[in-house]
Amino acid sequence: MGYVGHRQALDVVLGGLRRMEYRGYDSAGVAVLDGAGSLTVERKAGRLANLESALDTTGRDAFTGTAGMGHTRWATHGAPVDRNSHPHRDSSDRVAVVHNGIIENFAALRAELEADGVELTSDTDTETTAHLIARAYDEGATKGDLAASVRTVCRRLEGAFTLVVTHADQPDLIVAARRSSPLVVGVGEGETFVASDVAAFIEHTCEAVELGQDQLVVIDRDGYTVTDFDGEPAQGKPFTVDWDLSAAEKGGHEYFMLKEIEEQPDALANTLRGHFEAGRIVLDEQRISEQDLRDVDKVFVVACGSAYHSGLVAKYAIEHWCRLPVEVELASEFRYRDPVLDRDTLVVAVSQSGETADTLEAVRHARTQKARVLAVCNTNGAQIPRESDAVLYTHAGPEIGVASTKAFLAQIAANYLVGLALAQARGTKYPDEVAREFSELEAMPAAVHKVLSTVEQVRDLGRRMADSKAVLFLGRHVGFPVALEGALKLKELAYMHAEGFAAGELKHGPIALIEEGLPVVVVMPSPRGRAVLHAKLVSNISEIQARGARTIVIAEEGDDTVRPFADELVEVPAVPTLLQPLVSTVPLQVLAAEIARTRGYDVDKPRNLAKSVTVE
Ligand code: F6R
Repeated sequence: MGYVGHRQALDVVLGGLRRMEYRGYDSAGVAVLDGAGSLTVERKAGRLANLESALDTTGRDAFTGTAGMGHTRWATHGAPVDRNSHPHRDSSDRVAVVHNGIIENFAALRAELEADGVELTSDTDTETTAHLIARAYDEGATKGDLAASVRTVCRRLEGAFTLVVTHADQPDLIVAARRSSPLVVGVGEGETFVASDVAAFIEHTCEAVELGQDQLVVIDRDGYTVTDFDGEPAQGKPFTVDWDLSAAEKGGHEYFMLKEIEEQPDALANTLRGHFEAGRIVLDEQRISEQDLRDVDKVFVVACGSAYHSGLVAKYAIEHWCRLPVEVELASEFRYRDPVLDRDTLVVAVSQSGETADTLEAVRHARTQKARVLAVCNTNGAQIPRESDAVLYTHAGPEIGVASTKAFLAQIAANYLVGLALAQARGTKYPDEVAREFSELEAMPAAVHKVLSTVEQVRDLGRRMADSKAVLFLGRHVGFPVALEGALKLKELAYMHAEGFAAGELKHGPIALIEEGLPVVVVMPSPRGRAVLHAKLVSNISEIQARGARTIVIAEEGDDTVRPFADELVEVPAVPTLLQPLVSTVPLQVLAAEIARTRGYDVDKPRNLAKSVTVE
């Protein structure tokens, strides 16, 4: 984050970092320009709170000034220790840089600097940029011009980066630049901000400007100027943030994640709103024609983590509704295995942040192969939707807890809208069938609300399971991705070994893991929907119970056949088969959060993780 304005920069920057800490929390640092040519820096390993204690010790008066910047880090190059924390400075301590992303040619740049006698003090890729910018500022055609110096250096950098740069001799401005990594400008009254995320400045202004690829912005208290890396004038894209500070605050909840679990009915309702008009499904930004949608002969869903699980759920619906083959692929694997793509392939890229580097690269690969790309994204104007042919936004609101909850449910709903849009274009569903599916989706916020009113039982269960060594999750059909999601939540939040399996696969190996007392969570299908699957899963439960497992069964209310096999029964409302993940995921989110809380872990900031993974 960077700030130039009329307030004390330290307060503004720390406030912004507090709201963006979910993006990385290995270390934190700030730099403030005092206006009289001096640059004061503090940085500390660990959470932002460590930095704040260090500032209290140094004395915050040392950081007086109305321009400054800060950073919270998710370590890539170099361990999360003080000396690798940002901001990084040049040898004369006049230039300070914070950076997100990875500078892939940093080893060559570092060697060049070392050959010139520069002593580098950190293990990071970032530090090289501080030295190079300082050198450009001191010599040649860019002498004395910070923006030109940053541009010169940016042209030499390979990889993905957002840089925010200050120079002690330029106390009234800050320069920022981006390539494939997020950066937005916030425009206030007599103050201007740059940040990775609007959350950083939402307290001060809702007026924001999105920057394009390979663009640089100079901010001062009166506004901003955008150029490309060659110095040619460029335009940012202004937008108004449509959520306010309360959305970025905990609102009385102990953790953001708990608040976000409760917001799921709204997240679903907002995601569906406005997408069925005059009897037709409509997407947000559709730069793919109806004819192109009709011509689609294969769908790939590419995504990571929970978003990938939302794609696995969507496969069942899209294949059923559209009679099209759907492959769901981890974005990090997609482009490296030479997938068969052409103009008639639709690639659906699902990403809450819209920044995930693996997914972004998958999108780029798909486009080079002439496939059409449709983004499902929760962040307006992020890089993935910008580079896609069509967009469907999930309106889940800001998701700050690192583990995805409301965005995941919203992704399932949005993926289903994509499926219905395809079915409508291809005529594999009649308009009244599309309308019926949509109205069933519209009933889901109320169903999720009902699940939320019964979570006390799950919390109690979570407290009792907190000492477990491992937990297995089983499901069939759309319950299988739910099992994977339940296991992921438990791993990332409670640091507990957890595995999700397709229940039918258990007997092919994993059943050997079952031992006395092992908790196994089973996601039951509806007995009304696929009766045959239900019966098979009941058999699977009895097989594991017979081998000593403690069965925790998530089943539709009134499903009495499963009762004898459930050591614990968690009931969810009866909903159409394909929509079951929207209700059965919720208890698994609550379970993981409660186990993590009981074990004393920070539910919002699990170790080693960051919310937006902007490196491959
Ligand atoms: C898990 C989780 C991650 C993300 C994944 C993709 O709870 O949050 O697995 O789902 O990193 O992130 P996005 O959706 O931003 O691309």
